[in-house]
Amino acid sequence: MAEIRQRRPVAPPEQSTEAFPSAVEEEAEDETILGKDFKWSSWQTWPMWLRFAPAWITLLIIGAVTYWDYHVTEYGLDMRTYESCVATFNYTYRINAARHQAEHHAVHSWEYGTTTEAVLELVNPERAVFAGNPFPNDEVEMQGWKLDQALIWVYQNIATHNETLFPSDDFSATDPASLGIAAVMVGRRWDVYMEAAERQKEYLLQSAPRYINSAISHRRHATELWSDAISMFPPFLAYYGVHKKDFALLKESVRQIQLYRDVLSISKGPTKGLWKHVVGPAGEKSMADEGPWSTGNGWAAHGMARLDRWIGEILDAAIATDDGGDESGLLRNYLGQGSWFGETSGTALLTATTYRMAVLNPSVFAQPKYLDWAHAKRATIAARVDDDGFAPPAVNPLKHSSRDSVRESPEGAAFLLMMGAAWRDCVCKGICDPADQGQVDFARPALRESGESGVKEGL
Ligand SMILES: *[C@@H]1O[C@H](CO)[C@@H](O)[C@H](O)[C@H]1NC(C)=O
Ligand SMILES: *[C@@H]1O[C@H](CO)[C@@H](O)[C@H](O)[C@H]1NC(C)=O
Repeated sequence: MAEIRQRRPVAPPEQSTEAFPSAVEEEAEDETILGKDFKWSSWQTWPMWLRFAPAWITLLIIGAVTYWDYHVTEYGLDMRTYESCVATFNYTYRINAARHQAEHHAVHSWEYGTTTEAVLELVNPERAVFAGNPFPNDEVEMQGWKLDQALIWVYQNIATHNETLFPSDDFSATDPASLGIAAVMVGRRWDVYMEAAERQKEYLLQSAPRYINSAISHRRHATELWSDAISMFPPFLAYYGVHKKDFALLKESVRQIQLYRDVLSISKGPTKGLWKHVVGPAGEKSMADEGPWSTGNGWAAHGMARLDRWIGEILDAAIATDDGGDESGLLRNYLGQGSWFGETSGTALLTATTYRMAVLNPSVFAQPKYLDWAHAKRATIAARVDDDGFAPPAVNPLKHSSRDSVRESPEGAAFLLMMGAAWRDCVCKGICDPADQGQVDFARPALRESGESGVKEGL
């Protein structure tokens, strides 16, 4: 202690005399760049560029890291979190163009419902039906201060004062219910939508015609079961059942799927496990169609969401009957029927379902048998998505039995969103390997050039 006290008064003069000559030299040199009054020790005398130097260096580093992330790393994919993966995911085809087409061309009830689900899966996967937990606290989540994009787009097309959510649909009893999940979501903010959802449920359970086994008919003015209906009303009944904590309603949604399966599932022969498209009594207005329509099987499998075994039956049979189409590499419009053209709508929806199942039940579905197949189908479809966001050839969505495919299918565009979102979630949840881009199946240049007219039978 004594030593320190003694040294204090002595040391400073010594140091300052020693440092003096060199300090003068430095300051003389600094004057030209840094200005007359510059002193290292006094921050206020620094020129602006020097004061902000740390900011420039930080910006430079951020720029370099960003550049590295996007252009130098192999896939530009940031796998640190699910959210960062989604944000950096490369869908490899024009998925936003497809979204525009799905939204722009929707006019029918099921097109509104399907596109809403597809856009939710794409933009708000945490709230879509396939989310890890779409019901935190056993509740449909409140919307934030701004509605989800999909709901903003759709809500004005949901009727709030009618028997069903889409009263201008006079053909189908179940298609308007495809708007039911959106109505419940919007209904968390505005009661009229929840009341409309209640009426839609009442219509389905009390008024809609029933098939002989008490399955709810897909048609209003005939009793017919269509595989399409599985994507239209059971998900709504289940979702509304969770919201109302109405367990009976949940059970009814499963029972309805079972009743449909009892009638539509093909029990023997090479297409065993697939679903017929339409079954109903014969008659003048009958639209019966016993063929395993590709898109219909997609509607059925995708709509079942979590009934793994039955979905597995359909996927197994779709894979087993996949003969590479007419060398398009796509599934045929009627599965296992060699005279039909390959088309993208059913293929995309069944591919989306495969990816969803790989995430929901990896021990069964995250196997090469399913994933290699899905990757190949996806790559084949992706190679066909054009600059406008359409993927020809697609089945005519208003005439499933047409031998002419179309280019512009609104539901087909929605399926492209579902396929992209399902693949992305498979990658971002660590199930699918991001490096596995899939091989285009059986693609022949001549077929791809066939363009708008699509691939015709016998090509
Ligand atoms: C996304 O993937 C496609 C096909 O692999 C590639 O051509 C394209 O450059 C990629 N885009 C970006 C932004 O990395
Ligand atoms: C729907 O409800 C409104 C208001 O009650 C009514 O004016 C309209 O005619 C109804 N539309 C149909 C197709 O029933």
